[in-house]
Amino acid sequence: MEKRESFKTSFGVFAAAVGSAVGLGNIWRFPYIVGENGGAAFILVYLLCVAIIGLPVLLSEFIVGREGKLNAIGSYKKVAPNTKWYLSGVLGVMSAFLILSFYSVIAGWTLEYVFKAITNQFVGKSPVEIESMFTSFITNPVKSIAWQLLILTITCYIVATGIEKGIEKYSSILVPALVGIIIILDIRALTLPGASEGMKFLFKPDFSKVNGKVILDALGHSFFSLSLGAGTMITYGSYIKKNENLGTSALKIGIADTLIAILAGVAIFPVVFAFGIQPNSGPGLVFITLPNVFPKIPGGYIFSVLFFVLLALAAVTSTISMLEAVVAYAMERFNISRKKASIITTILIGIVGIFAALSNGPLSHILIFENTFLNFLDKLTANYFMTIGSLITILFVGWKLDKSIIENQITNEGILKSSYQGTYYFITRYISPLAIIIVFLASIGII
Ligand code: PHE
Repeated sequence: MEKRESFKTSFGVFAAAVGSAVGLGNIWRFPYIVGENGGAAFILVYLLCVAIIGLPVLLSEFIVGREGKLNAIGSYKKVAPNTKWYLSGVLGVMSAFLILSFYSVIAGWTLEYVFKAITNQFVGKSPVEIESMFTSFITNPVKSIAWQLLILTITCYIVATGIEKGIEKYSSILVPALVGIIIILDIRALTLPGASEGMKFLFKPDFSKVNGKVILDALGHSFFSLSLGAGTMITYGSYIKKNENLGTSALKIGIADTLIAILAGVAIFPVVFAFGIQPNSGPGLVFITLPNVFPKIPGGYIFSVLFFVLLALAAVTSTISMLEAVVAYAMERFNISRKKASIITTILIGIVGIFAALSNGPLSHILIFENTFLNFLDKLTANYFMTIGSLITILFVGWKLDKSIIENQITNEGILKSSYQGTYYFITRYISPLAIIIVFLASIGII
C-alpha cells in the first residue's frame, strides 16, 4: 500500500479543514434554512448547537482520527477493536457519499452562474426575471448534469493526486478572498432601501417560531456546516501531525465557519426584503437574491464573476474533503491505489448524483416524504445520518475511550498546558449526548 501522507504545515491542516467546513453550507444552505425556519430565533439555536455540540464533536473526531491514523471506519476499528463503535464511521462514509452526490449538483449551479456572470446576464433584469432564469436553468437536465459531472471530475482529479499536493494549496488563499467579497456584498445589502427588515429577520428573535423541527434543522445544519458525522474530520484528523494543537484548531474552525455563515446571511436577507423575495424560497435563495445586487454595485460585473468563482472554489474544497473520506476508506479497506479508489467511487457517486440533478427537472414529480430526491438526500444526511453518527462519536469519546488517550491527544503527550479537559469531558459525557437525544425526540413529537 502507498505510504500514508500527512499535512505539511500547521496552516496546511487548518486550511484544509476550514476549506472543508466553509462551502455551500455557509453561503447556500445556511441562508435558505434560516429562511425556512423563520430567522433570528433559529440562528440563536444554531449558535447554541455549534457551541455545545458541534465543537465538542469536531474535537472528538480529530482525536479519534489522529489516534487511529486511518480512515473513518478503520480508525474506530483500530481504537476500539472488536466493538460496534465503527458503525459511526460507516454512517459517516455513507453520508459523505450521499452528500457529494447532491452537493455536486449545487456546486454545478455555481459554475453556471460563473458563466452567467461573465456573460453579463444579471444586468437589466427584474427580480422576477432573475428568478425565472434560475428555474429554467435548474430544470434543464443536460446543463445541470454537465456542470455536476465537471465538478465531480475536478474533485476526483484533485483527490487522486494526493493530500499534500492537492488539498492544502487550494484552501489557503481562497477563504480569505471569499470573505472579502462577502463583506463588500454586505455593505451594499445593508445600504439598500428596506434593508432593516432583513436585519430584523436575522437578528430579532421571535421565539414563538421555535419548535422541534426548527431545532433539529439547526442541529443538522451545525453538523453539515462543520463537516461532522461525515467521516471527513476523522480522516483529516488522521493526517494531522503530532505537534498540532487539536483544541485550538477546532475552536478556530468553528468560529470562522460560523462568522462566514452570518456574513452570508447579512448579504442575502436585506436583499430578500428589499426586492420582495420570499425568505422561504428554499434552495434557490442565494441564486435568486444576489444577482439582483451585483448590477447595483460599482464594479458589480467583476464582483459577480469573482463571487461565483470563489463560491465554486469553496464548494470544491468541500467536495474534495467528502470524496477523501470515501476514498481513504476504499483504499485502506480494499487495498487499492488512491487513483483507482478515486475513479471508482466518483463514478458510483455520479450515478446517484444524476438522479439528484434530475429531481429538479424531469423527475421533480417523484417526492420522498414530500421532498424531491435532492432535498430528501440533503435532509436525510444532515438531520439523521450525521446527527446519529455524531451522537455515537460523542458517546464513544465521552464514555468509552481511555482518558489517557484523550489527555495525550489534547496535550500532545503532555507538551501543551491545556486546562479545558474537565469541561470537555463533562460536555461530551452529559451535555452533548443529552442535547442530541432531546432534540431528536422533540422533532418526532415525543416530548
Ligand atoms: N461543511 C461543508 C459546507 O459547509 C459541507 C460538508 C459536509 C463537507 C460534510 C464535508 C462533509 O459546505
